[in-house]
Amino acid sequence: MEKLWQEMRQWMAKYAKSFYTDDEEVQLGISLKEEHTGYVMRHCLDLARHLKLSEHDVYLAGIIGLFHDVGRFRQYTIYKTFNDARSEDHADLGLKVLTEEMPLMEKLTATDEATVRFAIQNHNKMLIGETADKKQLLMAKIIRDADKLDIYRVLAPYLRADMAEKAPKFIHTSASQEVSPDFAADFMAGKQADYHNIRTHGDRMIVRLMWVYDLNFAWTLEKVMEQGYVKMVMDSLPKTPEIEEGIKRMENYIAEKRKRLNGEADTINL
Ligand SMILES: [Fe+2]
Repeated sequence: MEKLWQEMRQWMAKYAKSFYTDDEEVQLGISLKEEHTGYVMRHCLDLARHLKLSEHDVYLAGIIGLFHDVGRFRQYTIYKTFNDARSEDHADLGLKVLTEEMPLMEKLTATDEATVRFAIQNHNKMLIGETADKKQLLMAKIIRDADKLDIYRVLAPYLRADMAEKAPKFIHTSASQEVSPDFAADFMAGKQADYHNIRTHGDRMIVRLMWVYDLNFAWTLEKVMEQGYVKMVMDSLPKTPEIEEGIKRMENYIAEKRKRLNGEADTINL
């Protein structure tokens, strides 16, 4: 598995480079995704080790991190956007890329390949799809947490209102920091908002913040809190009564969860 892992990493580095361009804006998007891939891959490995998975499964988690956004490169080159609603679902596109352009997939066992595909396909959906396979479910949870952890890092510099203006188009949806009424209502109720309806920068921040409710492992919640990301996103929001209420709800949830998890390791059951 280690040899295959190295080969796959080399393939991915070459694949990303094949999209390099003189167009500054496109290149910025490509570099950002390449860097994101590196961080997510490392988070997957760290989380899998933290969960005490077998060496084989640690590599499997790494492979999923490595390829989870492989569809982003083709998406950005064709559509010039990372917005799935305005182009196509980048996870589904990624699976197509793996089928068409990644001969190394054949070196995985059929079971491992199915796990990699399931986790990638479900890394960005609102909910993880149905599966009776425990390892597929576990790997989907790992990649979802690892991905969210790094997206908070990517977002952090652009959270201040004045910086938001300077953010690249793919981070910054619109100039408005305002939160649309449906997003504010969902946030107040602690209900996952539908990212397809994002209209303002404020809406996007609400969706990112609500991810806290969707984290699967204590490990990830601790990292997100340690880095101060949650507070940063909260501070960037306009303080309407609905938002204040939603923030209070979330702070209570986090405090309860951390209290319960304090000293308790993440348990997995394969
Ligand atoms: Fe993704």
